[in-house]
Amino acid sequence: MVDTRVDLCGITIDNPVIPASGTFGYGHEFAELYDINCLGTFSFKGTTLDPRFGNETPRIAECPSGMLNAVGLQNPGVDDVIREELPKLERVFHKPVMANVSGFSTDEYAEVVKRLDRSSMSDMIGWYEINISCPNVHGGGMSFGTDPKMAAEVVKAVRWITDKPVIMKLSPNVTDITEIAKACEAEGADGISLINTLMGMRFDLRTRKPLLANVTGGLSGPAVFPVALRMVYQTAKAVKIPVIGMGGISSAEDVLEMMMAGAVAVEVGAANLVDPYASRNIVRDLPEAMKKYGISSF
Ligand SMILES: Cc1cc2nc3c(=O)[nH]c(=O)nc-3n(C[C@H](O)[C@H](O)[C@H](O)COP(=O)(O)O)c2cc1C
Repeated sequence: MVDTRVDLCGITIDNPVIPASGTFGYGHEFAELYDINCLGTFSFKGTTLDPRFGNETPRIAECPSGMLNAVGLQNPGVDDVIREELPKLERVFHKPVMANVSGFSTDEYAEVVKRLDRSSMSDMIGWYEINISCPNVHGGGMSFGTDPKMAAEVVKAVRWITDKPVIMKLSPNVTDITEIAKACEAEGADGISLINTLMGMRFDLRTRKPLLANVTGGLSGPAVFPVALRMVYQTAKAVKIPVIGMGGISSAEDVLEMMMAGAVAVEVGAANLVDPYASRNIVRDLPEAMKKYGISSF
C-alpha cells in the first residue's frame, strides 16, 4: 500500500494532483464527466473583480508538444462566481477548492480576495492562489510577477485580509525566479506555485501575420516540462515555504519527477484540454507508479 496524501500549507489532501487554473473551469463542468472528488483539489479559473470577455480570437494555437493561449482571463467576475459558480460547485465537490485570483492593481487583488473571503461561500475555499503571472493581459498580470518589489506589494495587500493560505503563482518569464519567490516569502506568502505559461508567438505563413489576435501568447504543455522542472527545483531550494510544481505534466511519472524536484503538490494544465479525463487518469495511475519506483509516501 502506498500513501498518496500530502500536506498543502496545513491542509491534508488525498493526493497531490490539482487541475490548473484556466484548464478546469469552475469544476462543475468536469463533474458532468467524472466524480471530481478523486482529485487532491483544483484551482478555479482566474477570477477578477469585473467580468472579462477575454482577448479577441483566434486565441489558441497548437505547437509541437504544446499550445499557445492568449485567452486573456475571460471570467464572469467575482460576484457572479460567488452567486452562480460556487453554489454549482458545492453540489458536486466536497473538498476545499483553490481560488485563483487575478487583478490589474494591488487593490483589485485585495478586493477580490476580500469578497470571496467575506462571502457565504468562503468555507469552500482552502487556499488563495494569486496569479501575478498572466502573460496575456496588458497593464497587470505578469507585470507584478516580474519585479520582486511589485510581487511583494501584492502579498502585502492580500495577506492581512484572510486567514487562509496565500499561494503566489509565479511567471517563468524572468531571469531569476528565485528572487521573486524569496520576495513573496519575506512578505508572508504561505506557498509558491509555478510555472505559468512561457511567452511565445507563431506566424501564419499564408497571411504573414501572427496566428494569435493578441500577437503573443503563453506556451504550455509537455514542451515546457523540463523548463518548469528546473524552475521548481531552483525555487524549492531557495525558499522554505511549500512549492506547487506545474508546467507540462501529463502522466503519473511526470508527477513523481516534479515531486523529486521539490514540489509538495502539482498542477495539471494543458493536459486537461487534450483529454478531459487526464487529471483523473493521473490520480488513478499514481499509486502504481509510486510502487514501481519504490515510493511508499511523499
Ligand atoms: C487555456 C489556458 C488558460 C489559462 N488560464 C489561467 C488563469 O486564468 N489563471 C492562471 O493562474 N493560470 C492560467 N493558465 C496557466 C495554467 O494554469 C498553467 O500555469 C500553465 O498552463 C502551465 O501548465 P501546463 O503546461 O500543464 O498547461 C492557463 C493556461 C491555459 C492553457
